[in-house]
Amino acid sequence: MSVSNNPGGSSQKRGVPLISMRNIQKSFGSVHALRGASVDVHAGEIVALVGDNGAGKSTLVKVMAGVHGFDSGDYEIDGVPAKINNPSDATAYGIQTVYQDLSLCNNLDAVQNLFLGREMTGSGWFGRRIKRAECEVRAREVMTRMRLGNLSLTRPVGAMSGGQRQNIAIARSILWTPKVVILDEPTAALSHSAAEQVSSLIRSLADEGLGIVIVSHDIHHFVVNSTDRIEVMRLGANAASFRSKDVTGEQVVNAMVGGNEGVNLAG
Ligand SMILES: Nc1ncnc2c1ncn2[C@@H]1O[C@H](COP(=O)(O)OP(=O)(O)OP(=O)(O)O)[C@@H](O)[C@H]1O
Ligand SMILES: [Mg+2]
Repeated sequence: MSVSNNPGGSSQKRGVPLISMRNIQKSFGSVHALRGASVDVHAGEIVALVGDNGAGKSTLVKVMAGVHGFDSGDYEIDGVPAKINNPSDATAYGIQTVYQDLSLCNNLDAVQNLFLGREMTGSGWFGRRIKRAECEVRAREVMTRMRLGNLSLTRPVGAMSGGQRQNIAIARSILWTPKVVILDEPTAALSHSAAEQVSSLIRSLADEGLGIVIVSHDIHHFVVNSTDRIEVMRLGANAASFRSKDVTGEQVVNAMVGGNEGVNLAG
């Protein structure tokens, strides 16, 4: 067992991380939600953020995604201080988030959902027809890249399974070629086989060089089997950091609840 003094990051020399958050503090009125939280995300890496309810995971990823500001600490992207005041600033840096509710419109098909809110509208009837065709081509490209080529682009997503809907939400996040994708509980409502499919999709995105951040309570299956590094948060700070392949679900849970003080396998 190797010990690292670098919770929140990785002591492996792999160049400048895509994202580096250091010692982030964030209060909501009298609630001190983040008390010096840190996390690094490298290209090609899947990082799990785990912790008990209220540990600060969602707050940390919302700061990363520009939903919340922060009170103090350092947030760098590609080694440069990030200037993020809202979610569109984060999007401009190449950070996309897939929220747990997926934010899909059930009565619309996959193409419409992929381009929701950002359709390229042409002028007049003919122009719109052309744009729909372009959207379909682009949607097909992305789905093929994600090895989801056989998913219907024209069926309402409300008629699809939870796993298919999750995959469409992920496809939407990568449509504009982001550098980092944040996923909040991607496997929470999924069957074992659907979760496996989402896992392999996320791994293929990491293999293309994206950095992936996943908030998950699915410690014993998804987190230990399908991620590269695990950051354990407790009371708004980092409690431990593990390489996923070196740890058991039980060790992670112990660190979440405080039974594993000081143990750290991330080196
Ligand atoms: N918008 C907000 N206003 C006030 N307090 C908040 C807000 N968002 C989060 N908090 C508080 O900050 C703390 C951390 O919450 P957060 O949602 O980040 O936890 P979490 O680790 O995501 O928990 P869970 O596993 O339950 O989703 C909690 O005490 C929560 O009540
Ligand atoms: Mg949360």
